[in-house]
Amino acid sequence: MRVLIAGPVGSGKTTTAVQFIAEGVKHKEPGVVVIFEETAPKYMDQAKALGVDLEEMSQQGLVEVVYVRPLDLSMDETLYAIESAVDKVGAKRVVLDSISGLEAALAPAFKEDFLESLYRLLGALTGAGVTILLTVEATEAYNQMRFTPHPISFLTHDIILQRYFEIDGELRTFVTVLKTRARAHSHDLRAYDVTSSGVVVGKRLSEFTGIITAVPRAHTPTKA
Ligand SMILES: Nc1ncnc2c1ncn2[C@@H]1O[C@H](COP(=O)(O)OP(=O)(O)O)[C@@H](O)[C@H]1O
Ligand SMILES: [Mg+2]
Repeated sequence: MRVLIAGPVGSGKTTTAVQFIAEGVKHKEPGVVVIFEETAPKYMDQAKALGVDLEEMSQQGLVEVVYVRPLDLSMDETLYAIESAVDKVGAKRVVLDSISGLEAALAPAFKEDFLESLYRLLGALTGAGVTILLTVEATEAYNQMRFTPHPISFLTHDIILQRYFEIDGELRTFVTVLKTRARAHSHDLRAYDVTSSGVVVGKRLSEFTGIITAVPRAHTPTKA
């Protein structure tokens, strides 16, 4: 299974990814985190602030953090680095955080080929029973509930969307499932908070309308 989390900067994608890996370790499912934007020590620091010691998990052979600088590596080397890490820990969970970082770093001439190769690698991993979490930075305006056809959206059919909205002088976040492949899913828009212990999903935002416009109004019941 492959799941894509799309959301703007700061909406909690990395937090969710770290929790996903930590939860895997709890269930004896080793994990690999592939990062493109910042170095492993920085990423591990962020995880540590959430109470997830990736470094210790790595020393125990349960997690590998792979920092890929695509410009420095050929496509083959990059894919090989990911595959090696997966083999090394016997990964059951793989995180790619984020596809935007990967894309940004790739020279346009390589992009299509690379995504093709990555697609094949992800397909092979999925076929081998590995669950993959991809993150992508959604760049469109906050008031557009639109998932711009992104060149990487073909990588998965299961998409979770995170968004900001404004209420009571605060910028809050909500999450919704945009689509799943061949299964029914919840259509709730749920508020969530990123806390020091991770993402905490709250209730459905039924008291508002227009949340997807980012500036909701109080919901007026139609029946007295
Ligand atoms: N340990 C923490 N304690 C409290 N809040 C945190 C912690 N770690 C991250 N956050 C909050 O979560 C927000 C989103 O972080 P992050 O998961 O890195 O987002 P993204 O990857 O989507 O850019 C940050 O702006 C920060 O306020
Ligand atoms: Mg992030």
